[in-house]
Amino acid sequence: MIKTDFIVIGSGIAGLTFALKVAKKMPDATVTIITKSDESESNTKYAQGGIAVALNNGFDSTEQHIADTLKAGDGMCNRKVVEIVVKEGSKRLQEVIGWGVRFDKKSSGQFDLGMEGGHSASRIVHHKDITGLELERTLLRQIHKTKNIKILSHCYAIDLITEHHIKQKPLRKINCFGVYVLNKNTNKIKKILARITLVATGGTGQVYRNTTNPLIATGDGIAMASRAGAKISNMEFMQFHPTALYNPGESPSFLISEAVRGFGAILRTKQGKRFMPKYDKRAELASRDIVARAIDYEMKKSGDNFVYLDCRHLDIKEFKKHFPNIFHTCKKMGINLSKEMIPVVPAVHYLCGGIKTDIHGRTTIHRLYACGECADTGLHGANRLASNSLLEALVFAHRCFEDAVKKAKMFSINTSFPDWNSKGTHHPEENVLLTHTRAELQMLMSDYVGIVRSNLRLQWAQKRMVALEKETKYLYDKNILSPQLCELRSLIEIGKLTIAHSIARKQNKGVFFKVQ
Ligand code: FAD
Ligand code: SIN
Repeated sequence: MIKTDFIVIGSGIAGLTFALKVAKKMPDATVTIITKSDESESNTKYAQGGIAVALNNGFDSTEQHIADTLKAGDGMCNRKVVEIVVKEGSKRLQEVIGWGVRFDKKSSGQFDLGMEGGHSASRIVHHKDITGLELERTLLRQIHKTKNIKILSHCYAIDLITEHHIKQKPLRKINCFGVYVLNKNTNKIKKILARITLVATGGTGQVYRNTTNPLIATGDGIAMASRAGAKISNMEFMQFHPTALYNPGESPSFLISEAVRGFGAILRTKQGKRFMPKYDKRAELASRDIVARAIDYEMKKSGDNFVYLDCRHLDIKEFKKHFPNIFHTCKKMGINLSKEMIPVVPAVHYLCGGIKTDIHGRTTIHRLYACGECADTGLHGANRLASNSLLEALVFAHRCFEDAVKKAKMFSINTSFPDWNSKGTHHPEENVLLTHTRAELQMLMSDYVGIVRSNLRLQWAQKRMVALEKETKYLYDKNILSPQLCELRSLIEIGKLTIAHSIARKQNKGVFFKVQ
């Protein structure tokens, strides 16, 4: 058993920012970060385009950023949350700069602001096309310098500890007392007990076959919170990024940043015809859902597996300066950007829904906060505006921190919970069952719960999911736990929620996905 004041599950931008703030404010408190892979492995590390911030510099304003976010969200954002995030954004940006994050500047000393789809002004601060890596390494550097933070890497959070582990009915609300954690090096499961727990476990992209998300993005935090009884919302709003590199067999898919279209790249069919102007007057810079659906429609019409992103007319020297990572990846694939176009295809990228929180990041479970991609704060509505998620993580990590430090002293660490009980379980003999079920689930979600969803496909997916869940529960009850088995359990919970919420949305609103 480990006792700590704060548990943070996840070491991406949300978890690290919260941990750092709490530890600095309460130097006598202990903060324990649990993370299931290497400490830097996260969606954050791969973020390319940057952070959207309205700097009120004469060319842009918070009002414009608010309007763009609301428009992208298709009328489904929480306006109050949008205002909070946009207005508090520049303060949070200054803090990360203070910690050492470097953003590109022009020779005038002003930020070199990028343009992305759905934005009415250039407002993306970035570090070349590796903004996430710059954030992640700077935050980790700060974390390592902070004495009262402990980081436990290769430790997998299995389940939140709530009243149901002592078979007690909660008095009013369910409470979270900590988490059961599987140490991947020792294969031992420990309980970690705390006053306050933050879930910052990131996204769910791995529930689909083609995604830009790394292997860690299996929705564990959302699944854990759901099993513990927290409210989960808007899981049907899975965002597809229009331009992942088409490279069959590569997983995860390499992203070609939206900032490349902001730099002037043009989408063309395989036959070389530009098509975006007929879908939206903003053409390639329409919001992400519109561009992804247009590509999907064009591909279905032609039967092609990809469309092209054309950079041949751009200043390639400048391109290389702005997007060195993308330039080199294309070069490695034998694509000469001044002569050849990049084959691209939409891929699953970002979950807009998640664990429902209020404006302080509090979930519907007492003593449990959620922040970052796993949370549904109400900012994104049906479709996130590009580069608003790193911003949201910074703003809400701060809000969670402010609330949590006020509350922490009111809660004691409750040690009455039992150790993990693995009696009656055995070493698995057939791991092929796990790999096969994961592949089957990914295929099911990609084919039946994709960009455009029909009632029939959703109903069939729901029926198939019942069987996958039953088989996986059997393995979970009989086998000694492994991260692979736990991840499969999470992915199934995510799939189930996505399908159920998609069906519910269609029933409430008729056809949800607009036909172009
Ligand atoms: P993450 O950064 O994903 O961190 C989650 C952490 O939780 C990881 O450390 C993981 O290992 C850990 N974890 C998960 N499950 C468990 C478990 N069971 N036990 C222990 N630990 C666990 N957004 C933008 O705003 N701008 C961009 O330019 C941008 N570009 C992107 C490019 C790519 C390729 C991708 C994939 C995403 C991009 N996004 C971008 C989205 C953005 O990166 C993410 O939404 C954001 O980084 C999420 O941060 P997070 O801290 O919530 O989660
Ligand atoms: C990108 O660089 O295109 C990703 C931006 C985002 O996901 O917000």
